[in-house]
Amino acid sequence: MTTYLDANKQRFLDELLELLLIPSVSADSKFKGDVRRAAEFVRDKLAAAGLDNASLYETPGHPVVYAEKIVDPALPTVLVYGHYDVQPADPYELWQSPPFEPTIRNERIYARGACDDKGQFYMHVKAIEAMIATDGLPCNVKVMIEGEEEVGSDHLGTFVAEHRDMLKTDVILISDTSIIANDTPSLETGLRGLSYVEVEVTGPNRDLHSGVYGGGVANPINVLCDMIASLHDEAGRITIPGFYDNVADLSEAERAELAKAPFNLQDYKQDLDVNDVAGEAGYSTNERTSIRPTLDVNGIWGGYTGEGAKTVLPSKAFAKISMRLVPNQTPDEITELFTKHFTAIAPASVKVKVTPHHGGLPYVTPVDSVEFEAASKAFEDAWGKKPIPTRGGGSIPIVALFERELGVKSILMGFGLDSDALHSPNESYGLFNFYKGIETIPYFYKNYAELKR
Ligand code: BES
Ligand code: MN
Ligand code: MN
Repeated sequence: MTTYLDANKQRFLDELLELLLIPSVSADSKFKGDVRRAAEFVRDKLAAAGLDNASLYETPGHPVVYAEKIVDPALPTVLVYGHYDVQPADPYELWQSPPFEPTIRNERIYARGACDDKGQFYMHVKAIEAMIATDGLPCNVKVMIEGEEEVGSDHLGTFVAEHRDMLKTDVILISDTSIIANDTPSLETGLRGLSYVEVEVTGPNRDLHSGVYGGGVANPINVLCDMIASLHDEAGRITIPGFYDNVADLSEAERAELAKAPFNLQDYKQDLDVNDVAGEAGYSTNERTSIRPTLDVNGIWGGYTGEGAKTVLPSKAFAKISMRLVPNQTPDEITELFTKHFTAIAPASVKVKVTPHHGGLPYVTPVDSVEFEAASKAFEDAWGKKPIPTRGGGSIPIVALFERELGVKSILMGFGLDSDALHSPNESYGLFNFYKGIETIPYFYKNYAELKR
């Protein structure tokens, strides 16, 4: 195995760089053809790795790529999930090298999708190739790489429900999360859920002269800002009635366990160039970003934003708002509470409209399962260190759905770093992480096959 990995190192990287050239931005229809090209690339590489039935499955959105290798029906089956779509690269001018021209600097690959999730799922393609080419697969493997994760996996639920037999598995293995640091491996044991909404506030029926009408009618941007500001109190808590009703509070013992993960506030602040952190009173930064729910404005617009000044009292104002959810909140419940509250606090001088976008349920994985043990031991085997269990702050909405539809748990064996700038300009992925991931994954299969025997 080691010999094979060493001998093919450069080719593995070259192939990833080729995949990173394709701007597979799922959110923007302008890239529809490129998204498809990325899917075809993945399909071809899965076939070349030695997997059977590598094909594209059409959905009303972007295609799902699927391939499998059933070595022996008596062996346990691992389903690998990942996504070949990426976030938009905007703003382009902040990139040091163009987002879709992958560049290696300081032992890192810079490109949109380098870490999230092309670099991470591609480690699996190469690890599987290496297992097939050397000692053989110790488990059956199924690989499903989708193209709509970054836009909420809207069509994947139907796909999974319609292909339950094909996707039948004992465990789902996902590399789309982070470790604490390269000398501190960790395994995420949970993901936050998500409720994403867009709001529209309408004042007068048309844009007005801000001198002629200013002061006499409500300015929807002013109103929207007031409304948004009122959604948090001084303690950083969300003011929507009922918002916290279903939040599962952790016991002091559980909090103490999570607090064992190393965290340096000084480094954190320095990395982000902020003088202080902010958030809900009574919780640490790690808790605020993992076990506590949040509400954040992701974008806000309206009125005149072009060059120079235009005196205008706008007719409309908009914002996109995300709420990260924790067990046992549900996106349906939270979206409804938000809508009710936001409508209720609107003054009579404006009309508001709330449009729900996507959502996803939060997820927790048990740490006392053979699946978790196989992953934990894989890190020990490859890194010489036991990984620290952590709760993640991001969302992968499909994970809760897998549990519901397929009845199986997911193992979140990510190899990225929070500082890899996912969704930001200059996203990158360490060459160390890419190669170390390829080395770690086969141990999972080996350990899992042994533990299940
Ligand atoms: N890979 C991320 C999620 C993630 C990142 C989890 C880091 C844990 C650590 C995923 O691609 C993502 O960005 N998900 C979206 C959700 C989606 C519905 C757009 C998110 O979390 O915003
Ligand atoms: Mn991802
Ligand atoms: Mn992402």
